[in-house]
Amino acid sequence: SAATDYQAEDATISQGVVESNHAGYTGSGFVNYDNVAGGYIEWTVTAPAGPADVSLRYANGTAATRPMDFTVNGQPGAVGITFPGTGAWTTWKSKTVRLQLVAGTNKIRARATSADGGPNADKLTV
Ligand code: GCU
Ligand code: CA
Ligand code: CA
Repeated sequence: SAATDYQAEDATISQGVVESNHAGYTGSGFVNYDNVAGGYIEWTVTAPAGPADVSLRYANGTAATRPMDFTVNGQPGAVGITFPGTGAWTTWKSKTVRLQLVAGTNKIRARATSADGGPNADKLTV
């Protein structure tokens, strides 16, 4: 089925803030994760059961990779996904992970696991 965009700024955010000071985002802004481990964005995605390619559009203006873990309804999904530097905070790239979704409501969470926090996050596409 056709892909759907889920904006980060419309999702549930823990330890992060919505900002719009770096151009190139879609929607009304992006989420700036606090620079700590444990911050997350959680999207609610309704889908059929089965594997889904889930893409996060992000920017990382530093030279250091910012890893995150993905969970679905609290279950481990994709661990240690790397978000390398994109060259500038205004340069946005997409990283795709395959997640096993359930029929109905999927709470897809992207949780920063390093002390730098996550990359700036624009949207999730499922
Ligand atoms: C800068 C940048 C932020 C980014 C932050 C970071 O402050 O303006 O958008 O989130 O660096 O290092 O995480
Ligand atoms: Ca940040
Ligand atoms: Ca956005």
